[in-house]
Amino acid sequence: MAKVLAKAPTGSGLVEVPCVERNGILEMMSMRRDPFGYGEARRARYGEVSSLHAFGTEFVTFAGARAADEILMNRDKAFANGPAWGYMIGPFFNRGIMLLDFDEHRHHRHIMQQAFTPSALKGYMQEMQPMIADRMQRFPTGKVKLFNEFKSLTLDVALEVFLGVELPQAEADTLNKAFIETVRAGVAYVRKPVPGGRWWKGLRSRKVLEEFFYANIDAKRARETPDLFSVLCHAESDDGHRFTDADVVNHMIFVLMAAHDTSTITMTQMAYWMAKSPEWQHKAREESLSMNPELGYDDLGSMTVLDLVLKESLRLCPPVPGQPRVAVKDTSVGGYYVPEGTFVTIPQLTNHRDPEFFTNPEMFDPERFSPERAEDKGHRLAWTPFGGGVHKCIGLYFGQMEIKTIMHHLLRGYEWSVPRDYEIPMDYSALPVPKDKLPATVIRR
Ligand code: HEM
Repeated sequence: MAKVLAKAPTGSGLVEVPCVERNGILEMMSMRRDPFGYGEARRARYGEVSSLHAFGTEFVTFAGARAADEILMNRDKAFANGPAWGYMIGPFFNRGIMLLDFDEHRHHRHIMQQAFTPSALKGYMQEMQPMIADRMQRFPTGKVKLFNEFKSLTLDVALEVFLGVELPQAEADTLNKAFIETVRAGVAYVRKPVPGGRWWKGLRSRKVLEEFFYANIDAKRARETPDLFSVLCHAESDDGHRFTDADVVNHMIFVLMAAHDTSTITMTQMAYWMAKSPEWQHKAREESLSMNPELGYDDLGSMTVLDLVLKESLRLCPPVPGQPRVAVKDTSVGGYYVPEGTFVTIPQLTNHRDPEFFTNPEMFDPERFSPERAEDKGHRLAWTPFGGGVHKCIGLYFGQMEIKTIMHHLLRGYEWSVPRDYEIPMDYSALPVPKDKLPATVIRR
């Protein structure tokens, strides 16, 4: 008889989660090499739900939108974020909002929400638009690694719009380096502070970031400015609660991380698909040319072509490919028994290609999001690049604002292409990034 995760309580009528027999590390390696082929083969053999043993823990994958709904909506408060995300990024993003749970999370989210209201977003947009417009004048041409360019652009936006401080170049470089090392550490293979290793560098860099924020916090508290750092210092919930200094520092470090690679990856995918399908690049450019060069907050909603491309790129490659949770009490999902302590994952990378909701799911077909087809509405959690439930991305409008503004200027000022037979070589070992950084030929229009 196949091994199961745990025996279901007698008389419960619950089904037991089957365990994958093969060595867990080998399975994980196959999954990272080809997550789609791997996911399909695993589902064919074990069904929608199965467990994998690796690193001394059982990891249960719950495929499909219905299971995602049960886990993310978390009606009986059985699943927690802290122990799940904490396992991966805890030491570097300690007490970031995504690692908080239940009442404490609700309390912090309530205050943080003030930094993402339409009026706060308008303030960020006013800072961001001229800075991006200026920066895009100097976008390189010739053979360009687009991933690297988008990464450096989002770092510049972060310095300006998140921190709102003018820094001498050397200090900005130190901060950028610390930030990159902290993000990298979360995906280190060697998860111990071996001197010189990623984990060790991550811990060292977290200190640099903390020192920077603590050194600047008094000035930010003293005067309101339209950057996220200042807004978090002054944010107050309806019931009069504010963040402590330690909260502001922890949230700033986390939000910088949450905003950075996600936006970079999305723009890389959009650029890739618009290079592979020049008709979409053309349509999106026509749309941008018909709009003001200086994009305003209220223009964002009328970028319908770019919006379709954005949604389809997020479907084919959600920057956060899976969402982990840990069961904090015995529970069940879809009739399967899930004992306390189980580590569960929602595989949104493969859920986004579920043929039950998406026709020809491998195909780049932005029209599937048109009001006539609305394939994402087949189930409310069929398309979840920003997650769902109480931890749903708080920066989803900010992210789209930044991405659309950069793409608007790129489309207006430049054309880019890849060879006809080029296929982006993806590395899925952590967040999905192109191994070759997406080399494209860029010309000024
Ligand atoms: C295309 C860009 C982005 C994508 C695809 C994305 C995706 C996600 C996802 C999937 C989650 C939920 C994770 C979970 O439930 O386990 C999340 C949470 C979060 N994101 Fe984003 N994100 C993006 C941009 C941003 C930006 C720009 C910011 C900040 C300005 C941001 C801030 C956050 C925060 C603070 C959380 C945690 C919310 C909470 O736990 O209450 N994200 N994001």
